[in-house]
Amino acid sequence: MIAVQDLTEEQAKRELKKLAMEIKANDALYYQDDAPVLSDADYDALRKRNLEIEARFPHLIRKDSPIKDVGAKPSGKFGKIKHAVPMLSLDNAFTDEDVIDFAAKVRRFLSMDEDAALACTAEPKIDGLSASVRYENGKLIHAATRGDGAVGEDITSNMSTLKDVPATLEGVGWPDVLEVRGEVYIADADFDAMNKAQEAAGKDTYKNPRNAAAGSLRQIDPRVTATRPLKFFAYAWGEIAAPLAGTQYEAVQNLGKWGFSINALTKLCESAEEMIAHYRKIETDRSTLGYDIDGVVYKVNDLALQDRLGFVSRHPRWAIAHKFPAEKAITQLEDIDIQVGRTGSLTPVARLKPVTVGGVVVSNATLHNEDEIARKDIRIGDTVEIQRAGDVIPQILRVLDPDREGRSAPYEYPKTCPVCEADAVREIDAKGKEDVVRRCVNGLSCPAQAIESLKHFVSRRAFDIDGMGAKQIEVFFEKELVKEPAHIFSLEARNNEIKLETWEGWGETSAQNLFAAINARREIPFDRFLYALGIRHVGQGNAQLIAKHYLSFDKFHRAIKQARSKIGEEWAELISIDGVGEAAAGSLVEFLNAPQNAFVVDELLEAVNVIDAEAPSADTAVSGKTVVFTGKLELMSRDEAKAKAQSLGAKVSGSVSGKTDYVVAGPGAGSKLKKAESLGIKTLTEAEWLELMR
Ligand code: IVH
Repeated sequence: MIAVQDLTEEQAKRELKKLAMEIKANDALYYQDDAPVLSDADYDALRKRNLEIEARFPHLIRKDSPIKDVGAKPSGKFGKIKHAVPMLSLDNAFTDEDVIDFAAKVRRFLSMDEDAALACTAEPKIDGLSASVRYENGKLIHAATRGDGAVGEDITSNMSTLKDVPATLEGVGWPDVLEVRGEVYIADADFDAMNKAQEAAGKDTYKNPRNAAAGSLRQIDPRVTATRPLKFFAYAWGEIAAPLAGTQYEAVQNLGKWGFSINALTKLCESAEEMIAHYRKIETDRSTLGYDIDGVVYKVNDLALQDRLGFVSRHPRWAIAHKFPAEKAITQLEDIDIQVGRTGSLTPVARLKPVTVGGVVVSNATLHNEDEIARKDIRIGDTVEIQRAGDVIPQILRVLDPDREGRSAPYEYPKTCPVCEADAVREIDAKGKEDVVRRCVNGLSCPAQAIESLKHFVSRRAFDIDGMGAKQIEVFFEKELVKEPAHIFSLEARNNEIKLETWEGWGETSAQNLFAAINARREIPFDRFLYALGIRHVGQGNAQLIAKHYLSFDKFHRAIKQARSKIGEEWAELISIDGVGEAAAGSLVEFLNAPQNAFVVDELLEAVNVIDAEAPSADTAVSGKTVVFTGKLELMSRDEAKAKAQSLGAKVSGSVSGKTDYVVAGPGAGSKLKKAESLGIKTLTEAEWLELMR
């Protein structure tokens, strides 16, 4: 692709025309059909290219420029429902070994013998959309999409139209509160019929059953949804007023008795070998099932064990998805684009000659990083083999015929930022290891980093401002109205000059809605606020751990300033938080103490009020207490002890200090126990500790 600065006027004109069509077509796929074919990043790249060309040739801006087309965010059409119990996703296994490993890990966590029996269910992983349906006293109360796992969209009227979703529970024995979870999907035959009808009506067809199901479920008018052949398999549950059964298998059978469709291929297996055998059988039968699946899900059968196993960040420890191998295809690599991310990372993206892989047209693939390109000697113009697995971004596996004559020159990775032209470097860490990622050193002075940071700031898991998405950020940024987060909150006050309601694509109502949505976020939870700042290594998980630890943002902010030299008590406290690594701690301290960032954060704090995190419920004897485990534990594994303590609100630390409340010592405890005794810290045996937790 020609760099924007090298485009002739004629080339720019042609490309703007092409981009206008491409972006519009993708908008239609996304908004009207709920069937996007481009990843967000690829779509953003198109818009960015369009913006850059428009910026260089303002007189060529088209009447139908896609950039003017803002203000509409149809996803605002459904209300929100907070899940009483978060909807999690599953960790993946790709090989038989991964499955054996899963079983071994479960046994280790539970302190079971290596060869102890461990029963698991094995069932198809349906390629649809997950939904949660809540029943109170046997009546359907509401239904929600998964959303971000914590909050979903209210799809009650649409879900009520499904035959597989009873309005009133059947049979006996269901609990007063029951949240049923499962997958909404469309069967292959129904999908074909649906597309035939679309074609006959001269409408666009759906790409695959999953997209058709998504589009059908998100209709504004439930009467339209009612005409769509949506089905639902129940396979899990959220909040329940009483246990459904003693085992996973029986619990799901009960859901079947209460009126839900359950999957007949669910099998109770006694060993990893049996699980893998069932996987092979399902894989063989895959094409005859009549609906799309993308793997097999294994779940520990005993619900008491599931309970003990609990969760790691967003996945249960007691389940895993064994994915089917990815589908492959061959195509041409037309170009390599470099995208600049929020943290300055340069990411190579392959532009491919469009090819169908597993029913989806693929025209972009990830190239990971420069070492990967060099290792595979990938060059523009090559014929390449690509693979696409489920919802994972397609990858380039290898170059076909790498020895042929007349290949283009080896790809030369840029050493400067393609957006701001500053140096792009690969950092060397304290251990002398070179980062695989090359980064633009220009920080927020690089327009790409600034704009990506702003997009992150308003994104769903951060400030989640309705009506202010990536597209709107681009426009406000280009017009120099929003250069940093605080500027979002002064838009309304500046509207006398901005006159948003007069912009194309906007009106009085949409402008007022946007300001209302912005104002609604002037109160923001600590963890979201911290995550929104977009600090490297501080994802949602770390932000939550930190908020839970410090509770007040103010207190945390002061501590970080004290910790600037990475020594002393405040630094020690920060790195002692279980799960927050030194990389995250370092980047927090560096970010929040850098003068330019400190200014941006302080300005933002003028505009918003950060709500304290909730203190762990103080009704357990160990909540808020810091505990250190040392020596051998005999009643449970170290991991289970740690997870259990944390779930009751205790902090688990690796070293004994003045802040330690308890040291739990097993056989073989040494220096930590001595130190505890010398500091006068209460020491407990494992049994005493379990008693205390009870
Ligand atoms: S169990 C806490 N069982 O896969 C675990 N999930 O990556 C709850 N899915 O979001 C999920 N078939 O949408 C489970 N038989 C099955 C499934 C299944 C499809 C989906 C589900 C989930 C995703 C996990």
